[in-house]
Amino acid sequence: MIEMNWFLPTGGDSRDVLPDDSSINRAPSHAYLAQVARACEELGFDALLTPCGTGCEDAWLATASLIALTSRIKFLVAFRPALLTPTLAAQMASTFQRMSNGRCLVNIVTGAEQAELARFGVTEDKETRYERTGEFIEVMRGAWSGEPFTYKGKYFEVTDATTREVPNPVPPIYFGGASASAEKVAGDNVDLYLSWGETPVAIKERQERVATIAAAQGRTMRFGIRFHTIARPTSEEAWAVADGILNSMAPDAIAAAREDFLKTQSVGQRRQFELHGGDLTKLEIHPNVWAGIGLVRGGVGTALVGSYEEVADRIVEYHNLGIEAFIMSGYPHLEEAYWFGEGVMPILRERGYLPALNGGPTKVFSFR
Ligand SMILES: Cc1cc2nc3c(=O)[nH]c(=O)nc-3n(C[C@H](O)[C@H](O)[C@H](O)COP(=O)(O)O)c2cc1C
Repeated sequence: MIEMNWFLPTGGDSRDVLPDDSSINRAPSHAYLAQVARACEELGFDALLTPCGTGCEDAWLATASLIALTSRIKFLVAFRPALLTPTLAAQMASTFQRMSNGRCLVNIVTGAEQAELARFGVTEDKETRYERTGEFIEVMRGAWSGEPFTYKGKYFEVTDATTREVPNPVPPIYFGGASASAEKVAGDNVDLYLSWGETPVAIKERQERVATIAAAQGRTMRFGIRFHTIARPTSEEAWAVADGILNSMAPDAIAAAREDFLKTQSVGQRRQFELHGGDLTKLEIHPNVWAGIGLVRGGVGTALVGSYEEVADRIVEYHNLGIEAFIMSGYPHLEEAYWFGEGVMPILRERGYLPALNGGPTKVFSFR
């Protein structure tokens, strides 16, 4: 089975990838986020990933505010370990589990850009932060163990860490980052390693490296991938949307983004940039895998573009590499959730990769 997730646009949403002031933008209001969450729940998505950073609403508060408005969908809450203590993080996730009936997953974000981290008062370099992340996860797991947990490491010292009750289930720990230090933390400590979409060959190489590190610790890993998507009934329709997005990107916006990407401190971001290198003629890096969004957007820049069948085929291709979890998104997030959820997901369901939807197919009155 595939775990199929969507993205909660807590930084705002738009029809454009890089909206300007003349675009109609959607604020990440509580009403809009609730609309996306409820649509995704109806469509059968498993969970919603939030981003974290100064550009978006706080992930814990935004997702907690949606618990009572939803009943089944889970929340993959992203947070930075440098900003709170591991016992507090364990307590927050543990509380989230009880308040939501077990719908919390956590995404640990070590973070890459020093300027962004400086806004939160974090000045440690990336290598140090990854080391700290490794210890942080050990303490968090210890606090969830049900036994008072005492630990003395390089960064954390805790005595009798615990939470009021063991969370049920213990939240699985998701984590992304493409540098060697990120792979080490992933192999040593995390449950599910996330990558931004790259070619199957590149993804396989990365997974093998992380799986080897995990195996040395006697552990097995799960893998996940993050993509945007433009899925339509026909390939032509989908590529017309992609072309429209490309045509909406002003050359100076592409040039400005390129300058940023050349300076990035994130290996994952650099890899996303190198998929196209700014060359508008080389955007389809694998059949139906389009790097166009990454011309201007930071983070994941690749999209699965094609007919419903083609996008479903690509998902199966990545799944066959060992990817269990997909985190998809599109502009705007509400409408693209419907295109994907009503176009691609039924095909995956029919092929046995997704569970049946509660209630099954519905009759619609034809007014005759
Ligand atoms: C699926 C996914 C989601 C991520 N979400 C965030 C995020 O919300 N905020 C952020 O600052 N970094 C995010 N990142 C970035 C990484 O967590 C990581 O800190 C960054 O890429 C630094 O890494 P590197 O040099 O090891 O690649 C995400 C990465 C992946 C793969």
